Amino acid sequence: MKPSLFARIAFYLLFVLSSTRADEAIAFRPGQIWNDTSGKPINAHGGGILFRDGIYYWYGEFKEGRTYLAKVNKSWGGTRVIAGGVSCYSSTNLYDWKNEGLVLPSVADDPDHDLACENVIERPKVIYNAKTKKFVMWLHQDSPDYSAAHSGVAVSDSPTGPFKYLGSFRPNAGVWPINVTAKDQNHDANNILARDFQGGQMARDMTLFVDDDGKAYQFYASEENPTMHVSLLTDDYLQPAGKYTRILIGRSTEAPAVFKRNGKYYLIASGCSGWDPNPARTAVADNIFGPWTELGNPCRGTNADLTFFCQSTYVLPVTGQTNQFIAMFDRWNKWDLQDSRYVWLPLEFDTDGKPMVPWRDQWSLPASK
Ligand code: GAL
Repeated sequence: MKPSLFARIAFYLLFVLSSTRADEAIAFRPGQIWNDTSGKPINAHGGGILFRDGIYYWYGEFKEGRTYLAKVNKSWGGTRVIAGGVSCYSSTNLYDWKNEGLVLPSVADDPDHDLACENVIERPKVIYNAKTKKFVMWLHQDSPDYSAAHSGVAVSDSPTGPFKYLGSFRPNAGVWPINVTAKDQNHDANNILARDFQGGQMARDMTLFVDDDGKAYQFYASEENPTMHVSLLTDDYLQPAGKYTRILIGRSTEAPAVFKRNGKYYLIASGCSGWDPNPARTAVADNIFGPWTELGNPCRGTNADLTFFCQSTYVLPVTGQTNQFIAMFDRWNKWDLQDSRYVWLPLEFDTDGKPMVPWRDQWSLPASK
C-alpha cells in the first residue's frame, strides 16, 4: 500500500527535524549564536579553557548591558561595556555548555575596588596547580582608560569557584628581563622598560601556559603594548618568579594564545587595533623564552586577511586526540559588545609544520590529523 501524501509529508518533516537536532548537537558553527544548555547565549568572551577530571571549563569575560563610548580617546579602544566579572561554563563534549555562573563577579558598590564594574576585567585564564591543588586565575585588570595595565590573580579550591581575589600588580617590578641590553636599561624618555623597572611592567592582553614539566608562564602585552613579555610564574602560580624575557619587540602583539606541539612552542596572536580585526600572526620557538620566529597569518579562506573579523583568545589541545587543536577566537561586535560571537576553528599544520586555520561554516571533531 502506498503511504498517503499526509504520511509522506509527516515522515519527511520528522526526518528533517530529527536530523537537524542531532546535527546541532555535534557541530561547531563559528560566528553563530551559541546557546548554553539552558538556551541562553554563552557569555564568556576573551576566554580560555581548563580541562580537569574529564570536564572542560570555559572561563571568559561576562559582558552584559549597553555598549557605551569610552571617555578616553585612545586609538586602540573606544567602546566599553560594564565589566561583569568572569563567567564559567562546563562541558564534557565541547559542544554543549552548562552555565556554572559568575565565578569571580565584578563589584558594583565600590568604585575603588580593582574589580569595580567601571574598570576593565579581561582575558581571564585559569590553570590548575597540582602541588597546591588550587585553581589559579590570572586576568587583565585595568582602570577605565586602560592606564593601570595590571595583572589580577584569584584562587579557588574548585574549578567552578568561588574564586578569591588576591589583588593585582604590574609584574616583574625591580627585575630586568633575561635578554636585557645596556640600551634597554637606559632611563631615557622613550624607554618604557626602564621607566617601569621599579614599579613593575605594564601587563594588558595576556594568557597563561603550563608546560609539560608543570612550570607555568604568563604572556602579556607590555611597554604600552609594543612588546610582549614571557614571564615564569612561581611554583604555586600566584606570582611572577622573577625570570622573564622580551619577545616580538616592537611588533605590538596582542591576544596571545600559546600551545605546544612536537616539542615546539607556538603563539597565535593579533596586532593591536582595539576591537577592530587585523591579520592574525603566529610565531614559533624551541625555547619558551625565545627566540621566537614569526610565521605569518595562519588563517585560510575568505576574509583570512582580517582573521575572519576575529581576534585570537586561546588554543585548546583536545584531550585524547593527538595533534587535534581548536583555535578559539572572538568576533567582537564593538557597537554591541555583549553580542560578540565565538569562532572556534580547527588548527591544522602544513607540511613544514606551520599552523593553519581554515574557515569552516560548520565542523565537528575530529577535524584533522
Ligand atoms: C583589544 C584587546 C581586547 C580589548 C580591546 C579594547 O586590543 O585585545 O582584549 O582590550 O582592545 O579596545
